[in-house]
Amino acid sequence: MSGQVCVSDFEEEARKILPKAVYDYYRSGADEQHTLVNNVAAFNRWHLIPRVLRDVSTVDLSVSVLGQKLNMPLCVAATAMQRMAHPEGEMATARACHAVGTGMMLSSWATSTIEEVTSAMTSSPGGRGVLWLQLYIYKDRELTLSLVRRAEAAGYKAIFVTVDTPYLGKRCDDMRNHFKLPPHLSMSNFSTAALAFSEGNYGSDSGLAVYVAKAIDPTLCWDDINWLKKKTNLPVIVKGILNGMDAVQAVNYGVDGILVSNHGARQLDGVPATLDVLEEVVKAVQGRCDVYLDGGVRRGTDVLKALALGAKAVFIGRPVLWGLACQGEQGVTKLLELLKEELRLAMALSGCRSLSEVSRSLVRRAEFTSRI
Ligand code: GLV
Repeated sequence: MSGQVCVSDFEEEARKILPKAVYDYYRSGADEQHTLVNNVAAFNRWHLIPRVLRDVSTVDLSVSVLGQKLNMPLCVAATAMQRMAHPEGEMATARACHAVGTGMMLSSWATSTIEEVTSAMTSSPGGRGVLWLQLYIYKDRELTLSLVRRAEAAGYKAIFVTVDTPYLGKRCDDMRNHFKLPPHLSMSNFSTAALAFSEGNYGSDSGLAVYVAKAIDPTLCWDDINWLKKKTNLPVIVKGILNGMDAVQAVNYGVDGILVSNHGARQLDGVPATLDVLEEVVKAVQGRCDVYLDGGVRRGTDVLKALALGAKAVFIGRPVLWGLACQGEQGVTKLLELLKEELRLAMALSGCRSLSEVSRSLVRRAEFTSRI
């Protein structure tokens, strides 16, 4: 592996390695991809306001997320079908998370089973890693619950239920490429070919969009969050909240956490960058549950800005796929270590020795500072 020094180096290399349809699927946003660009650009609209002379010779990045101690407040978001990026797919990602000491959210649409990923994460000695399950609610509720039961039995620590995908967003590259899984792979957690998205005729559209329309429940509403909460003792986090009104609803429905997410800009194009709505959500929640963020995080300074605006921890999706494509487990480990070091440096240069010292006063909207 050559010397990547930042996330974009990994993406550049991954783009050369991956088949076009795979790279396009991972990279794409919906429609005109305005939100895709905005998710990343939003971080530049916030400036860091550092404090100096604070003895930053040691910086502690440890954090507790949903009751689990992690070595850093940067976790791995669910991304689907990781064995398209590398033969070891999700298992390699799990081993890397364990080595670095962070959490991994496994996609319902993984190409490795819930149980295989647990074995991968727990097989190496030392380390510290946590698994969570990202859940799509299927029209078939028994099938949905079977995923939850398997996650409980396999030691997963929370369920992140996706609430922004009654239908799949329109992704033009996937339509042009007639995107579907390569024949040797399937969504491993499903036993029937139809639900495993592994075979069959998906027409001339994006195969995944057709699959979602057939299998995922578009009638989902808040009562289904109640239903899920009653069916499991694991913490339930709603993934895909973008405003204070829904955040209040979520709290009223007793969720254990909110993930501010626009699904990597892959669903409704034109929604704001997640960073730009984070504070609204945090204010609405008033400390009644934890708030997390994903979308556009590419630098340690990005993580720090999101923490200063009230996120308890931050998730990254695409960068992990680039690390995986470049060199499997080692690539993901390197990528996570690199971001961890960027965060440590950003905290030290900002005068923060631990996450408890990261406060709202650390960031200011760029308009205000640039007018001075
Ligand atoms: C999967 O969740 C996707 O957005 O393709």
